[in-house]
Amino acid sequence: MPAYAPIVHDHSLVSLNTFRIPARARHYLRVNSAAELDAVRCDPALAGLPRLVLGGGSNVLFTRDFDGIVLHMTGQGRQVLGEQAGYRLVRAQAGENWHAFVQWTLAQGFGGLENLSLIPGTVGAAPIQNVGAYGTETRDRFHSLTVYDMASGTTRTLDAAACRFGYRDSIFKHPEGNALVVLDVTFALPLAWTPNLRYAELAQAVDAAGLAAPTPQEIGRIVEAIRRRKLPDPLEIGNAGSFFKNPVVSSAQCTELLAQFPQLVHHAQPDGSQKLAAGWLIDQCGWKGKALGAAGVYPKQALVLVNLGGATGQDVVRLAGAIQADVAARYGVQLEPEPVFI
Ligand code: EPU
Repeated sequence: MPAYAPIVHDHSLVSLNTFRIPARARHYLRVNSAAELDAVRCDPALAGLPRLVLGGGSNVLFTRDFDGIVLHMTGQGRQVLGEQAGYRLVRAQAGENWHAFVQWTLAQGFGGLENLSLIPGTVGAAPIQNVGAYGTETRDRFHSLTVYDMASGTTRTLDAAACRFGYRDSIFKHPEGNALVVLDVTFALPLAWTPNLRYAELAQAVDAAGLAAPTPQEIGRIVEAIRRRKLPDPLEIGNAGSFFKNPVVSSAQCTELLAQFPQLVHHAQPDGSQKLAAGWLIDQCGWKGKALGAAGVYPKQALVLVNLGGATGQDVVRLAGAIQADVAARYGVQLEPEPVFI
């Protein structure tokens, strides 16, 4: 008898993706440790099958059933490892709920992750797309992570450089990272914490709350309030957060666009390029609150596509395509989806 849960065949994925898209997996396995991954790798009936590693399912769009094995990362556990060079190191297993983990750090008075409060998903998924919000990205608080390599059957530690973090990007979204499964993540939280209020909306909200010297926990609560105001709760309306990345264009293209569209929302990047607000572009094209069949654009934030009830993955793909076409026609900018399409 294996010490882990048995493989389930023809398993529904509807409650395992925050878009609530009805899809099925040919095989499904809950993974708590490297032992299950080892077993899958060594089983000749499973070894050659397509694999999908699933965390909270908050960044995936199922466009069809998955004809392979879904590895659902469910490992639990978190610990304070100690202090090192001005940082407190904390580790959590991949299957831990992200927001619960953030709250656990904040409840102990550890600052650093407060701007990333209330992001749906799991700890193991955070580095995959380098989740970020309100001026902080996972990589800013990252120390290292442990992966199991399905190709070699070995476990190893990757530092930030090895993870190749980018804007909503990392090695795990590229072919070189295909065989790597994140088992746990270690974060480095600064002992000399200072608030990150670079994001204007957050700074204004802290100000409005009359907090001259806010604590990490207070900032976390304000971030939660902002998110609740603008973003749909996946438990109530199926969605995967921002559906598109904010497009990055050259400063020359941005200048040309500004000549025609002076209200264009843009932010200069350290390398001189400009990040445009995709939500603004979509909003200006008139898509906010609109729908195509059962897939819609959230009325309070045009960057979020929602399942209005009974949407299929194809419904969402059709809506996304129509939005991309309109934005490209009007602004000459190609929007790139943030979720992974299966
Ligand atoms: N805007 C509009 N109309 C809209 C939506 C936005 O005009 O319908 C304008 C806003 O007025 C604002 C600008 O677009 O000037 C940016 O909007 P917002 O501050 O809401 O942030 P965002 O760029 O749309 C990004 C992240 C979010 C993250 C927030 C806060 C991406 C793709 N999205 O959204 O991340 O929470 O900033 O930091 O980078 C996610 O990735 O799933 C996600 C929710």
